Amino acid sequence: MLHLSKGDFVWLDTDAVLPIGAEVKVTDTGQLKLIDDCEKEHKISKKMEGSIRPMHPTSVKGVDDMIRLGDLNEAGLLRNLLVRHKEGLIYTYTGSILVAVNPYQLLPIYTTEQVHMYTDRRLGELPPHVFAIADACFFNMRRNKKNQCCVISGESGAGKTESTKLMLQFLAAVSGQHSWIEQQILEANPILEAFGNAKTIRNDNSSRFGKYIDINFTKNGAIEGARVEQYLLEKSRVCRQAPEERNYHIFYYMLMGMTPEQKKILSLGKADEYKYLTMGKCTTCEGRDDVSEFAHFRAALKILMFTESDSWEILKLLAAILHLGNVNFEGTNVNNLEGCNVDPKALEKSLTQRSVTTTRETVTKPLTSGQAVDGRDAFVKAIYGRLFIWVVEKINSAIYKPPEEDKEPQQSIGLLDIFGFENFKKNRAQMPP
Ligand SMILES: Nc1ncnc2c1ncn2[C@@H]1O[C@H](COP(=O)(O)OP(=O)(O)O)[C@@H](O)[C@H]1O
Ligand SMILES: [Mg+2]
Repeated sequence: MLHLSKGDFVWLDTDAVLPIGAEVKVTDTGQLKLIDDCEKEHKISKKMEGSIRPMHPTSVKGVDDMIRLGDLNEAGLLRNLLVRHKEGLIYTYTGSILVAVNPYQLLPIYTTEQVHMYTDRRLGELPPHVFAIADACFFNMRRNKKNQCCVISGESGAGKTESTKLMLQFLAAVSGQHSWIEQQILEANPILEAFGNAKTIRNDNSSRFGKYIDINFTKNGAIEGARVEQYLLEKSRVCRQAPEERNYHIFYYMLMGMTPEQKKILSLGKADEYKYLTMGKCTTCEGRDDVSEFAHFRAALKILMFTESDSWEILKLLAAILHLGNVNFEGTNVNNLEGCNVDPKALEKSLTQRSVTTTRETVTKPLTSGQAVDGRDAFVKAIYGRLFIWVVEKINSAIYKPPEEDKEPQQSIGLLDIFGFENFKKNRAQMPP
């Protein structure tokens, strides 16, 4: 049996998948006992032999670079993150990789002082921080004249999007111009998130698309422009949401934030009146004020050079989607087409009939109500998907400055914020665009 004394740390095998860390303590009666990392008590007995191993000293209090761990295995990595998290330390290195544990609270570690502190330092010189990674990208780009890329990965709710924004914030600060373009790049986020983020059961602001943002710098290290690329927006959410989930933020923002006059012109009511917004039986999102978010969204549109008419066209399209969602198909009769801005007869025809053109003639066949619903949903998803692509293109036309031919090539830092792994009860296939 391992010789144990008070204050020793050990690895203990339990029913759990991985061994757990435990500390040797003394009971009131002077016997030794184990208290594991979950505060559970274990009596020390002969039976335990074989299921206790000594813990390497590096694991006891944890290390800020996990490459230094003596117990370099899954349990060792997890305990290291746990020990640090208990002390409020959310960042840990594994060499040049940064592991971030979502604190789910605002920590005072992203101030201007912190930005200055992490500027122009070698990685590892200061405690692990997302700013240190951003600084390393910036430094390597400038010194080695090589473009950099940072991949931010993890499961939904892990903190990828927040980390991406923090890196952007740092790069905008060290670029140091406080210029219009930096402001524009930062304000692209609220727009992208309005259209591409939604409340899910895992994350109140879950990105439902992948995003790659390439930031271009002049040879003096000032931000010159940026380009956003988007991947695989989850279009099915526009028509259907799982329990307790919402459709994309923008729909709720607009219904809460538009003026009564604007809503009247588009025949719009409250969120709970729309089928497309109530599939998850949830129209509000705790801690998110849809009214002020809408105001922020509108302000961001202006900064990104969307005109008043662009904004209005967007609202019209979104209103059309909501009205289409409320259309009922009974047999082949269509109801509720009043709210639409197009010829109701033409719309009715296109939603309820299918035309097949052969080499000789065009045959028109009525659809069943189920087929009509599917057709409508596919139509709506296509509209929303194209709207999203158009919005991204508009943003790029404001922030992207293509390199000039006779000038030195631009230097860039790319940030990839791509959704991680998720387990669903049911995976719904995406409709082709
Ligand atoms: N560094 C952080 N500090 C404070 N809160 C955070 C941080 N990172 C994430 N969060 C919280 O967690 C939520 C989910 O993070 P998010 O970046 O949207 O996850 P992901 O993009 O990985 O799905 C955020 O809305 C925020 O409330
Ligand atoms: Mg995200």
